[in-house]
Amino acid sequence: MNVERIREEFPLTKDYIYFNNAATGACSTHVAEALKEYAEARLTLGQEASLWNERIVESKRLFAKLIGAKESEIAFIPNTTAGLNTISSMVCTRKGNVVTTDIGFPSNVLVWLKHGHIETRLAKSRENKVPLEEISRHIDGDTIAVAVDQVGWFNGFKHDLKALGEEAHKKGAYFVVDAIQSVGSMKIDVRRDEIDFLSAGSYKWLLGPPGAGFLYVREDLIDEFVPPFPSINSMDEEQLDRNIYDAFDLYQLKFSGKVQRYELGTISDASCAGTWASMKMILELGIDQIEERLRELDQYLVDHLEELHMPMQSPREEQSRHGIVNFKIKNNRELEKRLRAKKIVVSARVGGI
Ligand SMILES: Cc1ncc(COP(=O)(O)O)c(C=O)c1O
Repeated sequence: MNVERIREEFPLTKDYIYFNNAATGACSTHVAEALKEYAEARLTLGQEASLWNERIVESKRLFAKLIGAKESEIAFIPNTTAGLNTISSMVCTRKGNVVTTDIGFPSNVLVWLKHGHIETRLAKSRENKVPLEEISRHIDGDTIAVAVDQVGWFNGFKHDLKALGEEAHKKGAYFVVDAIQSVGSMKIDVRRDEIDFLSAGSYKWLLGPPGAGFLYVREDLIDEFVPPFPSINSMDEEQLDRNIYDAFDLYQLKFSGKVQRYELGTISDASCAGTWASMKMILELGIDQIEERLRELDQYLVDHLEELHMPMQSPREEQSRHGIVNFKIKNNRELEKRLRAKKIVVSARVGGI
């Protein structure tokens, strides 16, 4: 991997030391070019515009490749939380419980808590991790879903998805994964890890503009649920065709059998165009290489922070963390500002940096 060449494709690295992907991924020249070209195509609506339409559709295929799924299992969503809300409203149609953790991103708890008839169980973290046994002990025959952030939003704790997927399925629960802190920076395999639903936005490790995202629904579950937020994309293709070109006959609504039945309506084409360019770059660079480089950088940072005796909020063992490193420090917000003034970009999170 030619790191120097790649850094040139991220112009902000000339002036800044950028440690802030967990908040917003750095913008590459690939994304900037795609946004410019897309805007120019919109001005003319000529051949270039239809080329961009094709690329936007192709972005589902690229995302599917990044998670080991099929293109036909991917729906467009505007952001991770919209996908998680869709999933929770799909599956919470009966009484029961959902198991998640006390270090998940707030959205991941809220989307379950909003269903008053569901008990939301929070598995507790210990020493910056949530042990598998702690999650398993909350799962029972009434568990509708086990829902986790694959990689934790503030300390980078990485779940063992394969083991969790097996635990969920042993008890007949769905396995739901928020992958915004992982997809684009590590290998994901929805089949190996028995993932039923996955949601991820574009703007962190996919390095795209905000406003695009992808929802994966396992093939055999696609026509199991009523779309909770139906849009024109949810309609049966023939009925849609008749209603657009001929006359209104929606009284007997039929939903499409395809995954787009879960789409929320018109998407941000511009964000999708930028994310298409970014995912193409990521796939060309190679996920294994990106993952390995990130592992080396994380380890370097952890080793040096430990030498300085900084209290770590991230797991110590390499196999339990990914991408995000957090150490405790007083006045974290103040330090974030001071570092920014020195052109070092970090995020203050949960009593640390
Ligand atoms: C794990 C996790 N999930 C969800 C979100 C929010 O994602 P979105 O803005 O795409 O809804 C974040 C943002 O930091 C996050 O870290």
